[in-house]
Amino acid sequence: MSAINYSEKIPNNVNLAEDRTLQRALEQWQPNFINWWDDMGPEGSTDHEVYLRTAVSVDPQGWAQFGHVKMRDYRWGIFLNPGDSERQVHFGDHKGEKAWQDVPGEHRANLRRIIVTQGDTEPASVEQQRHLGLTAPSMYDLRNLFQINVEEGRHLWAMVYLLQKHFGRDGREEAEALLQRNSGDADNPRILGAFNEKTPDWLAFFMFTYFTDRDGKFQLAALTESAFDPLARTTKFMLTEEAHHMFVGESGVSRVIQRTCQVMNEIKTDDVQKVRAAGAIDLGTIQRYLNFHYSVTIDLFGADQSSNAATFYSSGLKGRYEEGKRTDDHVLKGQTYKVLEVQNGQLVEKEVPMLNALNEVLRDDFIKDSVAGVERWNKVIDKAGLPHRLKVPHKAFHRQIGALAGIKVAPDGRPVSEAEWAAKEAEWLPTAEDRAFVASLMGRCVEPGQFAHWIAPPAMGINRQPIDFEYVRFG
Ligand SMILES: [Fe+2]
Ligand SMILES: [Fe+2]
Repeated sequence: MSAINYSEKIPNNVNLAEDRTLQRALEQWQPNFINWWDDMGPEGSTDHEVYLRTAVSVDPQGWAQFGHVKMRDYRWGIFLNPGDSERQVHFGDHKGEKAWQDVPGEHRANLRRIIVTQGDTEPASVEQQRHLGLTAPSMYDLRNLFQINVEEGRHLWAMVYLLQKHFGRDGREEAEALLQRNSGDADNPRILGAFNEKTPDWLAFFMFTYFTDRDGKFQLAALTESAFDPLARTTKFMLTEEAHHMFVGESGVSRVIQRTCQVMNEIKTDDVQKVRAAGAIDLGTIQRYLNFHYSVTIDLFGADQSSNAATFYSSGLKGRYEEGKRTDDHVLKGQTYKVLEVQNGQLVEKEVPMLNALNEVLRDDFIKDSVAGVERWNKVIDKAGLPHRLKVPHKAFHRQIGALAGIKVAPDGRPVSEAEWAAKEAEWLPTAEDRAFVASLMGRCVEPGQFAHWIAPPAMGINRQPIDFEYVRFG
């Protein structure tokens, strides 16, 4: 078998051609990755040629190329943002020391865990989304799904690069395990809860990419602050791609809402059954999907009080969102933060040491960011002249992790009894009937320029191509 020229095949700026050890590790891993892609990647897509962007450098002006490629031949590149040899650790106990180019022995286990946990989410989402291509509402949307899938694949490569480059044999084992766990698998599931949920339909996909890819943005942003410089530089570049994933989610939900409002205005009613009979997704169902994806996603930030979070911060492994823009001492000892807890069946605020509450700090930053997009969705409803509004639920609603997991809370933040929860759950979370209705709309609509009835066309195409461009050539 002829040797693959990896530095040619894998666009990179990490001097792959000169690193024999890393090359050997990748040579063993790469065929397993392709097998995983064939088995668990987008169903029925092997022969499609997809108009994809491929990262080819870290130049902000021209980091990507666009062109039709088969996804299994995608050039999964390895890119680190440019380094700064003077870079210093800028938070925690090591503040002011030189940033690390190698993994310090004392932080090895925690760093490995952080990288593996991040790495695990990347292939997980590809697995969750693997059937969606069969019911794409348009060729444009199909291409966006595939773009996200290949980039999550590249993000897996990014984490595997760190594991193989910096963690020796353990790293190679972890890289293999990342291909062995599977989303929703009863015996060997993905690490985090939200990544074992199904993404059964396109409304779920758009909510997932709006909310859950945004969790990715905040986790990655916190890691761009890391004292471990290769991790900081890798995640910085991953964020470049993440923006498109959230765009797909935000604009996708927005287009669903736009069509629903148009239908409501045409038939002059908000009656759920009539809106559904007219082939649009009623706003109540959209709100319940929003409630579900929002609550499952904010759980991803972890327990509101966590000694691990304190350790990760103090030892310089993971910073806060936009750490560098904050004006406090970046050590946080003696500072406090408000978290919610339950006392006598009521939610009350409690001051706790900030270092222990850093998961909550990141969750609150995420919440601020997600609310902004929901307001943009409301503008679409407003523009249609309708009085309805969408709203993110209270952060204590439907939680499975942390101090709020033990109680039932309504979307408005009111603690409720088990009986009230049971009576109202169908108003607050998607029901089997909602999901069956949404599923009933999911037909495949992939002629160039055609769109399924339940979703409005986008305002413009990808990379200045027309909306009816042949984004996918079916083989
Ligand atoms: Fe990702
Ligand atoms: Fe993403």
